[in-house]
Amino acid sequence: MAATPDPRKRILTGVRPTGALHLGHYVGALENWIRLQREYECFFLIADYQVSDYADDFQRVRDSIFEVALDWLAVGLDPEGSHFLIESGVPEHAELTQWLSWWVPLGMLERNPTLKAEMADLELRHSVPVAFFNYPMMQVANILMPKAHLVPVGEDQLPHIELTREVARRFNRMFERQVFPEPEPLVGRIARLVGTDGDAKMSKSKNNAIFLGDDKETVLLKVRGMYTDPTRLRATDPGHVEGNPVFMYHDAFNPNEDEVNDLKERYVLGKVGDVEVKTKLAAALNAFLDPIRERRSYYEARPDLVREALHAGTSHARTVAQATMAEVRDAMRINYLG
Ligand code: TRP
Repeated sequence: MAATPDPRKRILTGVRPTGALHLGHYVGALENWIRLQREYECFFLIADYQVSDYADDFQRVRDSIFEVALDWLAVGLDPEGSHFLIESGVPEHAELTQWLSWWVPLGMLERNPTLKAEMADLELRHSVPVAFFNYPMMQVANILMPKAHLVPVGEDQLPHIELTREVARRFNRMFERQVFPEPEPLVGRIARLVGTDGDAKMSKSKNNAIFLGDDKETVLLKVRGMYTDPTRLRATDPGHVEGNPVFMYHDAFNPNEDEVNDLKERYVLGKVGDVEVKTKLAAALNAFLDPIRERRSYYEARPDLVREALHAGTSHARTVAQATMAEVRDAMRINYLG
């Protein structure tokens, strides 16, 4: 019996398997994935071709694939209605990347601000692998492969979605066929969550992240160590709420608005200490993380379910990829031998 085609529009989005996911991933992107997973047919991709910056630590890539899948299940992504896929399990991605790279001049990648920043960062520690330079092209292939309409991502990914739109236009124009739709980006409710150290961005490598898998005690310790208002020396000094990471997190994660407003009012008057503000933040974060922890332990005890989700999703994505590649070859007329 042939499977009924899914009538929903498609999402393709993903992450690179470099380790566990944190609160920044949640508000920047994951939250949208969870919200949209029923409305769209979703392809959630683990981009293991795109971590050549970890070339000297391949075990990290292997481990992270399962870590990411577990994080996804823990936050409530549902592999019954969506497809979890491992990029290299669909080698058609490599093939499509190679063809599409024909229509992207080097300068277009060289000017990509996200890639530029990442390469500058990488160059300080490492030489940059050729594969790293080309990862945005691979991301283009990821998105175009299932002909995705929507790509919910963090703000730093916007240049890559713009590149995807440009490549789709070029390909369609070149071969005079509407093979690929131009996908729209969608950024999360908080485009960039600051780190616990007040740095512009929460990131694992900066050691300023609260992970979705952190236990209660770890969250409490990290919150206690958070940067607040550097101008405030005593609890009786009037404090600043604007730009204060502790209040940014309250705004992002504490659903009790009355409590947050009360803390802010007292803070600017110098009538509340950092300890109370932080204790309440840790409680709010732990309440937010509790259901995630519960689902995580369920799946941790059942690793076969994690593997099964990756297996089924990858195999479905491969079928979709083969259909797209047949269209691509047809449009390009590369069936040279008839
Ligand atoms: N580059 C993305 C990141 O670093 C991960 C990614 C790979 C991705 N392929 C994608 C995101 C396709 C969206 C769509 O987070």
